[in-house]
Amino acid sequence: MTDHILVERQGAIQIIRMNRPDKKNALTRAMYATMSKALADGDADPAVRVHVFLGVPGAFSSGNDLADFLVIATGGEGGNEVWDFLMALAKTEKPMVSGVDGIAVGIGTTLNLHCDLTFATPRTVFRTPFVDLGLVPEAGSSLLAPLILGRQGAFALLGLGEGFSAERAKAAGLIYEVVEEDGLEAAALAAAGAIAAKPPQALKIARDLMRAPRDELVARFKVESERFSERLKSDEARAALTAFMTRKKA
Ligand code: COA
Repeated sequence: MTDHILVERQGAIQIIRMNRPDKKNALTRAMYATMSKALADGDADPAVRVHVFLGVPGAFSSGNDLADFLVIATGGEGGNEVWDFLMALAKTEKPMVSGVDGIAVGIGTTLNLHCDLTFATPRTVFRTPFVDLGLVPEAGSSLLAPLILGRQGAFALLGLGEGFSAERAKAAGLIYEVVEEDGLEAAALAAAGAIAAKPPQALKIARDLMRAPRDELVARFKVESERFSERLKSDEARAALTAFMTRKKA
């Protein structure tokens, strides 16, 4: 457990807030573990009808903590926390809403592919620099992004690592709505409230019908994870991760 994730209930809404502003919400193993537990706890509690992911002003998440990646890239142990979180995302039976402001890198982007509604602000940029880091797409994004964006949009996001502004992301179908920064959380919570007011069983069945089959998603997680683990130990990844962790700030 870590206080870098704050879990709060507002009526039937469970809010999972990433809260590590000094590192732009880079996700550590403890943060993944706490989010997995929150999803499982919320799913098990009939009083909870919907999960909402939020970040801090200006940073939804800068992605996996690159220091943790560097540990693996240089021969250390990684743990199962990321895998467990991906499984929690795939298994979650209740709708997920996200409110994204500012930085949304790596899992900060791909997490939203699992959300049912994503709100973002005009200053938000979605970006997945996997290939530039010597890595490959994760979190089922190689399956979900082509379904959402088409093959070429997915290649721009996941292959080229192009930034998608909130406006571009909305036009591409990646997110639901663009709202001003000061209205972001209210908009996400209002949508969550509307979800919570629906008949839960009908909504669950409707949602299941609309989502990529879980078996297919989990199978893709497995293939991506194998490739990702191999790539983390590559010279390309080691060089890119070392360059980030040892960079000098202007
Ligand atoms: N892992 C670990 N630390 C990270 C991080 C990450 N993914 N992203 C940011 N940080 C840290 C920085 O090292 C810095 O720490 P410091 O103050 O101790 O030096 C702090 O967070 C603030 O980041 P900074 O780079 O100064 O902020 P910025 O606003 O100029 O840039 C980013 C923000 C996110 C664009 C930039 O930090 C970045 O590119 N991060 C890496 C993103 C990434 O590649 N994620 C993995 C995708 S798979």
